[in-house]
Amino acid sequence: MAPQSRKQSNKHPVSRRPSPLPPASIEAFLAQQQAQDLLRFITCGSVDDGKSTLIGRLLWEAMQLFDDQLAALTSDSKRFGTQGEDIDFALLVDGLAAEREQGITIDVAYRFFATQQRKFIVADTPGHEQYTRNMVTGASTADVAVLLVDARLGLSTQTRRHAFLVSLMGIRQVVLAINKMDLVGFDVAIFNRIDADFRRFAQTLGFVGVTAIPLSALKGDNITERSGRTPWYGGPTLMGYLETVPPRSTQTQRMVFPIQWVNRPDASFRGFSGTVVSGQVQLGDEIRVTASGQVAKVAEIVTMDGALPVAEAGSAVTLRLDREIDASRGDVLSLSDSPLEMTDQFEATVVWMQAEEGLIGRNYDIKLATQWASAAVTNIRHRINVNTLAHEASRQLGLNDISVCTLSTSKPLVFDSYEKATDLGSFILVDRFSHATVAAGMIRHSLHRAQNIHRQALTITRQDREKLNGHKGRVVWLTGLSGSGKSTLANALEVALQARGQRTFLLDGDNIRQGLNKDLGFTEADRVENIRRIAEVAKLMLDAGMVVLTAFISPFRREREMARELIGEDHFVEVFVDTPLAVCEQRDVKGLYKKARKGLIPNFTGVSSPYEVPDNPQLAVSGEDGQIKAGVDTMIGYLERA
Ligand code: ADX
Repeated sequence: MAPQSRKQSNKHPVSRRPSPLPPASIEAFLAQQQAQDLLRFITCGSVDDGKSTLIGRLLWEAMQLFDDQLAALTSDSKRFGTQGEDIDFALLVDGLAAEREQGITIDVAYRFFATQQRKFIVADTPGHEQYTRNMVTGASTADVAVLLVDARLGLSTQTRRHAFLVSLMGIRQVVLAINKMDLVGFDVAIFNRIDADFRRFAQTLGFVGVTAIPLSALKGDNITERSGRTPWYGGPTLMGYLETVPPRSTQTQRMVFPIQWVNRPDASFRGFSGTVVSGQVQLGDEIRVTASGQVAKVAEIVTMDGALPVAEAGSAVTLRLDREIDASRGDVLSLSDSPLEMTDQFEATVVWMQAEEGLIGRNYDIKLATQWASAAVTNIRHRINVNTLAHEASRQLGLNDISVCTLSTSKPLVFDSYEKATDLGSFILVDRFSHATVAAGMIRHSLHRAQNIHRQALTITRQDREKLNGHKGRVVWLTGLSGSGKSTLANALEVALQARGQRTFLLDGDNIRQGLNKDLGFTEADRVENIRRIAEVAKLMLDAGMVVLTAFISPFRREREMARELIGEDHFVEVFVDTPLAVCEQRDVKGLYKKARKGLIPNFTGVSSPYEVPDNPQLAVSGEDGQIKAGVDTMIGYLERA
């Protein structure tokens, strides 16, 4: 039953409409239900297609409204509604868009209702294009998708995009809800045409059932009662369909337990807490930590309500083991006789969800189950045209693009293909600075090269080389505008280091761009790749025990962070060459600013392409005339101290 209490709604008249269910209550609701009693579905479409009206109508028909809500609705409808004296069902659900859940991905309102036959959870997702992310969130747990189409307009790009996403998310049953039939005179020809268009489009999407239903959500035709105005229609009503369609079958019974935290209330107890995402685990089972391969037996399964002999999928438990093992948040446990696989390179379908383009080589944080790492798209195989399903070439990931990509991660992650296991096969990418979720992905498969390339252990290490050199290896990373004095400073620093007997090498933008990086220009994507290669080369030279100086504009914070991470905090010295743009431009050593101002050089840093000032560099020095010696002294001083 609905959790909104009468009392509460009287106290808070403004929230008298049913409110979206917080996830905790969904879990509580689920816990009381037998799985077979419950159907989760998602509605896809926009407000204009009548989505709010449809959901409102379903709630209404399920007699889920309390009397006072009903009274409020009737008066609201008269005041604000668009339907004259009729009840405006959309008012039941509009306003939800404003009630956003906090968190990284979600802007989905879950609502529920029940009939004699079944309980339902419906994920209501905002329909605008920019809300693809919500669709992905809502669809990931749904059994069925209801795709709403306005009978007057037929299939839209959005309907196709939604159908494609829904299929990607593993939903195999869809309802094509052809709405507003009253506005086309319940014309069977229109209905048939939309139905046929959709079936043609959806041929390759792998749906096992497509059920088209002629509806008027507003007037109630074919919602629960068969409409007298569609005598030509022999199929089920929408509610009839939802009450009888089988739920999505669970994919795998293999036990998967991602550790959410290590529970250590006192010295005598140590347990691993998390939720069993699939399969079950029993007392005495031998479990395996996927990354380390350590095994142990389950000695106790603890819950809020006491100990259990067995924990099923969906239960949140703490596992106490019969011996000490080394595992922490992000580790994934399996049963030792059905181990899980790991990969650090895989192919995935990626749905890009933010306006800023995704670039090959740029690093993001990846979250897969409870695991975090950094990840970069290493290649875009193709983008999928959602209208034609054709594969198109693409070099970047734009808003709402659905692309098949290869990705690599900073460390191996436990995974499965999305097809086999949604929990271990789906991930999100998160921007490091804004913490926004930028993409959702579904893993297709691990790349063979991830399995076939193994690191070779070398006898001589960096430490051996450093010993021979008589000093520590380092990377001194100079960043700043063109003409800020990076090369001059780096050059003078190198001379000073050589004089101190240090082995050095200077990587300079203008030089490297004539050799290793001569295939790269100055687009954002090319600069990302420029810096990625430089970071890799600098790392190799660091491993050779040298002091490496780099002089690249390196205008983007994210790539400088990537370099820091790759090279390692202890060896990376970021130096901001803080020369004002006006000074760089005024001295214009290479005459490039003049050209750029005339519009002759596109994407010129500081003029038509951004420079992101370092937030927290180890050092900031000036590259202005007469300041070089001071800058070198500062850098030498730092290197000798640290
Ligand atoms: S970075 O942005 O990718 O780090 P990098 O340091 O390698 O740039 O190269 C910068 C040098 O290339 C500049 O000093 C300048 O001489 C030259 N250059 C040519 N076109 C551009 C441009 N559009 N923006 C900045 N520098 C440019």
